[in-house]
Amino acid sequence: MQIPNSIDAVQEMLGAQGYVCGRALGTVVYLSLTLGRPLFLEGEAGVGKTEIAKALAAGLNRRLIRLQCYEGLDASSAVYEWNFPAQMVAIRTAEAGGGADRDALQRELFGPDYLIERPLLQAMRPDDRGAPVLLIDELDRTDEPFEAFLLEALSDFQVTIPELGTIAAPEPPVVIVTSNRTREVHDALKRRCLYHWVDYPDFDREMAILHARAPEAAAALSREVVAFVQQLRTEDLFKKPGVAETIDWAKCLLALDAIDLSPEVIADTLGAILKYQDDIARLQGSEAARLLDQARASLEPA
Ligand SMILES: Nc1ncnc2c1ncn2[C@@H]1O[C@H](COP(=O)(O)OP(=O)(O)OP(=O)(O)O)[C@@H](O)[C@H]1O
Ligand SMILES: [Mg+2]
Repeated sequence: MQIPNSIDAVQEMLGAQGYVCGRALGTVVYLSLTLGRPLFLEGEAGVGKTEIAKALAAGLNRRLIRLQCYEGLDASSAVYEWNFPAQMVAIRTAEAGGGADRDALQRELFGPDYLIERPLLQAMRPDDRGAPVLLIDELDRTDEPFEAFLLEALSDFQVTIPELGTIAAPEPPVVIVTSNRTREVHDALKRRCLYHWVDYPDFDREMAILHARAPEAAAALSREVVAFVQQLRTEDLFKKPGVAETIDWAKCLLALDAIDLSPEVIADTLGAILKYQDDIARLQGSEAARLLDQARASLEPA
């Protein structure tokens, strides 16, 4: 699969994977593919950052390689490790057999059979289908030393393994970096990338997403769900619901055979959209009814 040759083609390709992509996002994705630059996506939780990489890999028919970041992630877990237990077994076996050729054993122990490839190395391996999509997810969870390391890895796409030599990617992978912005990612890394802030979708786009992800939901219920969630996001909440929550909620309501929203059904299913007790408590009593009224008013033709 060739990379799409226009912004429209990018939107179409992602759309075919059930990913609703606006013009602005389509543009940075197109540029990132065309210029071969990593794409840095920041945004709230559950707004479709991770999903872009999945849809892109599926649309391009490329392999998706995911590096999930976490506190304490280091180069060896990200690039490669030697399979130490297997090496130990091989050494013991050789010892038991007696008269082992030490040099041959040494070469074998630090050869491909004992190498565990982690995502960054995997992403540099040639692939018949074309360079893979490398998703570096939630970069803000790692620390600065790892970021510095990553910066270097992203600049030349090669890894040097002392025992094996340098491995270089024949074609650089398509890189998507995401962050939930729990801390600022360093400028040096951002500078290498194209940047896009993934915001909560507006009403129409969220309807389109819901339609793509939960097509079984009737239009009338979907409209109320989306209008209510949009209204909820204007409230001062500890954690606003993302798109993922909208989809979950619609599915919960479907499972309960709800045909429209009511304060009672909202109270019963609030756990699908709000995940903090303080936020849930705010919506007790008449609050849910008030928000529902506002949501319905927003649906009425002006
Ligand atoms: N534009 C979209 N088109 C289709 N589905 C979407 C879109 N945005 C979000 N979704 C849906 O929302 C879900 C959550 O998206 P995703 O996991 O990508 O969010 P995220 O931004 O990575 O969140 P987090 O920060 O929590 O990891 C996806 O499984 C997908 O079904
Ligand atoms: Mg994510």
